Amino acid sequence: MTHAPQPTTRPALILPPFLWGSATAAAQVEGAAHEDGKEDSIWDAFARVPGAIANGDDLEVAVDHYHRTAGDIAIMSELGLDAYRFSTSWARIKPDDRDVNPAGLDFYSRLVDQLLDAGILPWLTLYHWDLPQALEEQGGWTNRDTALRFVDYAEATYATLGDRVQHWTTFNEPFCSSLLGYAVGVHAPGRRDEAAALAAIHHQHLAHGLATTRLRELGAEQIGITLNLTNAIPADPTDPADVDAARRVDGIMNRIFLEPIVLGAYPADVAHDLEGLGLDTLVRDGDLETISAPIDFLGVNHYHDDLVSGHPDDSGADGGHSGATEREAGSPWLASPDISFPSRGLPRTAMDWEVHPAGLRTLLVRLGREYPTLPPLYVTENGAAYDDVVAEDGRIHDVDRDAFIQDHIDQVELAIADGADVRGYFVWSLLDNFEWAYGYDKRFGIVRVDYDTQERTIKDSGLAYARRIAASRVVPAVAELP
Ligand code: FCB
Repeated sequence: MTHAPQPTTRPALILPPFLWGSATAAAQVEGAAHEDGKEDSIWDAFARVPGAIANGDDLEVAVDHYHRTAGDIAIMSELGLDAYRFSTSWARIKPDDRDVNPAGLDFYSRLVDQLLDAGILPWLTLYHWDLPQALEEQGGWTNRDTALRFVDYAEATYATLGDRVQHWTTFNEPFCSSLLGYAVGVHAPGRRDEAAALAAIHHQHLAHGLATTRLRELGAEQIGITLNLTNAIPADPTDPADVDAARRVDGIMNRIFLEPIVLGAYPADVAHDLEGLGLDTLVRDGDLETISAPIDFLGVNHYHDDLVSGHPDDSGADGGHSGATEREAGSPWLASPDISFPSRGLPRTAMDWEVHPAGLRTLLVRLGREYPTLPPLYVTENGAAYDDVVAEDGRIHDVDRDAFIQDHIDQVELAIADGADVRGYFVWSLLDNFEWAYGYDKRFGIVRVDYDTQERTIKDSGLAYARRIAASRVVPAVAELP
């Protein structure tokens, strides 16, 4: 992907039926990790590895969403959300990937019913990183057979929920569940093997394509995938090493995921870089046709851009792509040893991710221009972690998070004015929750969770988000339209 300059346009109003939502994921919020028949996912197992998760945190209780769905949906209503993006847990629906667990499916069935009763659209993701541990023990995503197992799980989930759920997302951020899990090792299953990570990428692609086709046959009308995409910007655009490094980051974060799905081919330059890691033996006849089955929407997750250098950097900055703990980490930049992420001096969140709202506009506009056959876009995650303080009045005056969210929504408006086909925005996250290897240290919620009492308090950022949603519903007089 390249960077075209963008004209400056005044913000357009986001008009209905733009979808306003917020997002969570099963492993991060549900808890009940071994209740009603659920068995270990790779994250339950990973949390038992000494040093894998900050403070030795685990997912047993998380924020107890499993038992508090009614209250959490009442909060969504208070915020005025149109949609709730959640994920189903494979290890709850098919524990150990054996038989279907009716109690597990019942939980999601009740969740969906309660959402619909509240007038909130259920936006379901099948895979937000929590593979049943039993499948990992058979090779996990390095095993091609896991793609077929995924289709069975998708089918079982659709059989129960397909009459009420319209929006089906196959995968959330396969970059993380392949590269962070199998090459960097800071995510479950914690492996550090470049060839294994490439196999995981291809097999997740295959699982996406096979499940898309199957769900379509079963009658699903809205099927998509969510990718985390970046703007990879060369630190010095006149330095060939920086330009090549940015090309590689763009290749491994964006194009290796987008292009098989949208264009039915792996990008030639990336395939060339990865010669020796076995892509040619992984890809079988017909795979790319399967993977490029048409989709109805693309979910875009975006938190920060990446300023990229091709020179080693001893400042310790890694662009926020490695670890939360002391655990030794590999690199996600397969076959690219000298990638580094110098700072461009922007403010940073508690994740050490830079704050640059205009990057979201750039990204959304580029996507439509560079991949004209893409379906409509939804921003399925955007948000920020900050160290919140509960004020004396009991409220959370999270001005930084509030500004982050509002500024990014402004940029979505600008992107739409520039012609990007963006149909919705989901803030990450509804609730403070289990932030993977960071455990409960990093708070992304627009609703605070007191981890001792499980009490929920809407933060100022949440109140402001609710006001913005309400304002967008006031249809302006024709004369006021841009
Ligand atoms: C994304 C994940 C989500 C959350 C946010 C902060 O990469 O999809 O689960 O952890 O980052």
